[in-house]
Amino acid sequence: MKPPIKTLWWEGESLFLIDQRKLPEKEEVIEIKNVKEVWKAIKELKVRGAPAIGCTGAYGVVISSLNIKTKNYEKFIEKLKKDIEYLKTSRPTAYNLFFALERMEKLIENFKEKNIEKLKKEILKEAEKIYLEDLESCYKIGLYGSDLIKENMNILTHCNAGGLATTGYGTALSVFFVAKEKGKNFHVFVDETRPVLQGARLTAWELEKTKIPYTLICDNMAGYLMSQGKIDMIIVGADRIAMNGDTANKIGTYSLAVLAKYHKVDFYVAAPFSTFDPFIKIGKEIPVEERNPDEVRKIKGKYISPKSAPVYNPAFDITPGKLIKGIITEKGIITPPYSTNIKKFLSQ
Ligand code: MRU
Repeated sequence: MKPPIKTLWWEGESLFLIDQRKLPEKEEVIEIKNVKEVWKAIKELKVRGAPAIGCTGAYGVVISSLNIKTKNYEKFIEKLKKDIEYLKTSRPTAYNLFFALERMEKLIENFKEKNIEKLKKEILKEAEKIYLEDLESCYKIGLYGSDLIKENMNILTHCNAGGLATTGYGTALSVFFVAKEKGKNFHVFVDETRPVLQGARLTAWELEKTKIPYTLICDNMAGYLMSQGKIDMIIVGADRIAMNGDTANKIGTYSLAVLAKYHKVDFYVAAPFSTFDPFIKIGKEIPVEERNPDEVRKIKGKYISPKSAPVYNPAFDITPGKLIKGIITEKGIITPPYSTNIKKFLSQ
């Protein structure tokens, strides 16, 4: 199956990506050639979604390597490492960014030839590897997850865990894409996902494009739908998963998981292993990004509140592992107890 979305790609000496802030009105591709622009693209959500951020970070290191002009190997490495540290400050929650940048760091440290041109080639190879691994992992998530979808199910998803959030297949949405490919009939409820509407703008756009039947709802409607028996299952993505299964994902995910428990609806997370943080034991340790208050005060650039309204804007929340029925990964579906089973899967 061809990836339904082409989110980002490398061509010549540039990174190209769809500017996700412009969707669904405009499908605009931007070309990125310097590290500051990579940082800004991540920070400003031109590219977003944990795996897509990770791959962008990796290509950011390629861009850094191409822009450093010195012929002195030590100075080259020093500047490269400085850029990697800088890229790490673009967004704090999605583990995939750190997973990718730490892989690039390891490659640089283990490269012993002290040849700048050869190292540049290795850096590009590693970024391409991270990109291809994400494509493969996400497709496999779809293969495993689609077995959960029974005929005529109604499934709810939150935010955008689609092709746009990855290199092309998505995580939660990969499950839908593969289920459709298998000929299954089902319907998706899409949470609009305030404040920046990734559900309404991006998930709806992807489902429209791939002709998967869906209905858009406001975030505050999900509980009512569950009480009416209209939702059979929930599948969301993840930004960082702790070793006990606690999961950071877009703000609003935790409320859905609590509602799902009350209404006995199965709640699944779909994520590749690049989202699991082996250094974090419990969800409380996950850094949660706080974003610009104007994201809450405005919708699509227009104030919907007094301009000075005090705002709290955490971008993510933490869903305790005990509310999650299973985590769909590229190696299969991990079920509780997560503290032992995540480790088992990771070491497979
Ligand atoms: O702030 P965003 O849009 O980067 O948040 C994205 C999410 O929370 C997604 O659900 C998550 O990254 C999973 S992506 C496969």
